[in-house]
Amino acid sequence: MVSCEPMTTTLTFRRPDDWHLHLRDGAMLAGVIAHSARQFARAIAMPNLDPPIVTAAQALAYRERILAARPAGSDFAPLMTAYLTDGTDPADLAAGFERGVFAAAKLYPAHATTNSAHGVTEVGAIYPVLERMERIGMPLLVHGEVTDPAVDVFDREAVFLERVLARVIGDFPALKVVSEHITTEEAVRFIEEGPATVAATVTPHHLQFNRTAMFQGGLRPHLYCLPVLKRERHRLALRRAATSGNPKFFLGTDSAPHPAAAKEAACGCAGVFNAPVALESYLTVFDEEDALDRFEAFASEHGARFYGLPLNTGTVTMRREPTEVPARIQTPAAEVVPYQADATLGWRLVAG
Ligand code: NCD
Ligand code: ZN
Repeated sequence: MVSCEPMTTTLTFRRPDDWHLHLRDGAMLAGVIAHSARQFARAIAMPNLDPPIVTAAQALAYRERILAARPAGSDFAPLMTAYLTDGTDPADLAAGFERGVFAAAKLYPAHATTNSAHGVTEVGAIYPVLERMERIGMPLLVHGEVTDPAVDVFDREAVFLERVLARVIGDFPALKVVSEHITTEEAVRFIEEGPATVAATVTPHHLQFNRTAMFQGGLRPHLYCLPVLKRERHRLALRRAATSGNPKFFLGTDSAPHPAAAKEAACGCAGVFNAPVALESYLTVFDEEDALDRFEAFASEHGARFYGLPLNTGTVTMRREPTEVPARIQTPAAEVVPYQADATLGWRLVAG
């Protein structure tokens, strides 16, 4: 479906999905959902609300709120996830998956990131849950960072892979695992060398910025997210992986809006709101890497195949043309600063 000649100016490809998205709730949900619905057919809706989405009943109610917040005429479909806690009941979780309420379950190590206080304290605590998930083919989505205060924040992903994920994969060889928003060369290698049951999502910001950019001319709170941006060599490894055509790597924006005031603060929140420019940003990376012919697979095929879901029908069209990104976006909840605020991008989504 991808058409590309030298200096492609228009690209039409299968409608993509976002395999990692924070849609929030209430007024923030109302203000941000249109940005995702414009680009993506489906999205994995992260469960880290406050309180988190733990039960199937909560997921169904949240799903209804998401559907009701869609722009008129939109068929954008959220795929719901369960937030795992030390107390998750394997039978309840499995029932939610088998009824089609949950597409996957999310492991947040307790206190690793935004609204993760109810997360898992030690992975051994959820072994009966993982055993059941393995048996029924329910994917485990992982925020892959240790929370040990003795581990440097830039090393927390690599240490998690070594200390926790390697053990989980060894103990549950048939469990489908997505290592979400990977940020390091070590993670790329871990996924590449791991079994076919293990995959990863990659965000636009980890493909486009390294940790130095977070301090360019001063502190840049809108580039602060978790896992935090890493050194240049890690960014380059992520770009190679994402554009390689390897089906283990797929699109997951981790778009995570916070009120501007909560980020521009003495103790600012982690999260990059990239939904308004997600496809434009990813496409820029593939263009720079001379890999436009691999974009459709990364954005629209690898994730669905990994989850065992049908590919979308329909297409979206992107055109090479300057696109101004606003400095701020007003939502009914608060002003939010988008990723690439005030920048001019080289691509625009022209038809969905
Ligand atoms: C996310 C959020 O704000 O919910 N923040 C982030 O920096 N990515 C949580 C997460 O995915 O870690
Ligand atoms: Zn996230």
